[in-house]
Amino acid sequence: MILLDGKVAAQAVKNNLKSQVESFTLQGYRPPKLAAILVGNNGASETYVASKVKNCAEIGFESLLIRLDSNVSETNLLQTIEQLNRDNEVDGILVQLPLPKHISEQKVIEAIHPAKDVDGFHPVNAGKLVQGLPGFIPATPYGIMLLLEHFHIQTKGKHAVVVGRSNIVGRPMSILLSSNIPFGNCTVTIAHSHTINLKEICLQADILVAALGKPAFVTANMVKEGAIVIDVGITRVADTTAKKGFRIKGDVAFEEVAPKTAAITPVPGGVGLMTIAGLLTNTLQAYLNNQQAK
Ligand code: GUN
Repeated sequence: MILLDGKVAAQAVKNNLKSQVESFTLQGYRPPKLAAILVGNNGASETYVASKVKNCAEIGFESLLIRLDSNVSETNLLQTIEQLNRDNEVDGILVQLPLPKHISEQKVIEAIHPAKDVDGFHPVNAGKLVQGLPGFIPATPYGIMLLLEHFHIQTKGKHAVVVGRSNIVGRPMSILLSSNIPFGNCTVTIAHSHTINLKEICLQADILVAALGKPAFVTANMVKEGAIVIDVGITRVADTTAKKGFRIKGDVAFEEVAPKTAAITPVPGGVGLMTIAGLLTNTLQAYLNNQQAK
């Protein structure tokens, strides 16, 4: 069994980005810049955004963290996004989700200019992905593609089962794996909460992507011998023995599933780190597009 170590793969991606940034700044260009908006103080969102900002610094990107109060008005948030859209020095914009209930996530997603939408959530970028056109791919599925590439996982002609159909992970993942691209060309089944015979379908998977957000949902009796298992779950589960009072749990019961697999991602230390690698790669691309547009 190969452990698909996100730390190793993400570091390789980041080293590559860092050396590209160095070569641009040595030529006198400004570094890429990512703006992140965090509304309120959801614990998990705080952690993710802090990690994004830290990773930007590590590879020589500039970042701007804009913190807004949880009761900020939707209008105010949309105005903040509009200012960043107009700021030529900002290459990428992300608004950390989820947002408080009084704010429409869809309106916010659509307010970000598609050329700066490094999360790839804008319908224009989602449409481009479906049609195989260049655009921004959501960071988690993009990171998973980078992980498959790093470990030279053969995907062509294989049966991939994606459990979960969210706009952030499952749906774009299913499109990427079925596309005629490197580390794509799979036959894809997308399963979800209404799927009948989920266990039997998972058992057919050569590549199983679990992205449903239910800790330890995928058990050994759902996994074919020799499968590749990608665990997207990052649920916080209360644990009084842990320093922070919780542990991060994946969607896969790792201990019992891992021995059956050819390769599997750990949680933590797997897909989560690749999500940041995907985001940073998108941000560099936005920067390059922005420089060329001048
Ligand atoms: N919330 C959960 N995942 C994500 C993500 O990839 N981007 C943003 N902006 N918010 C999220």
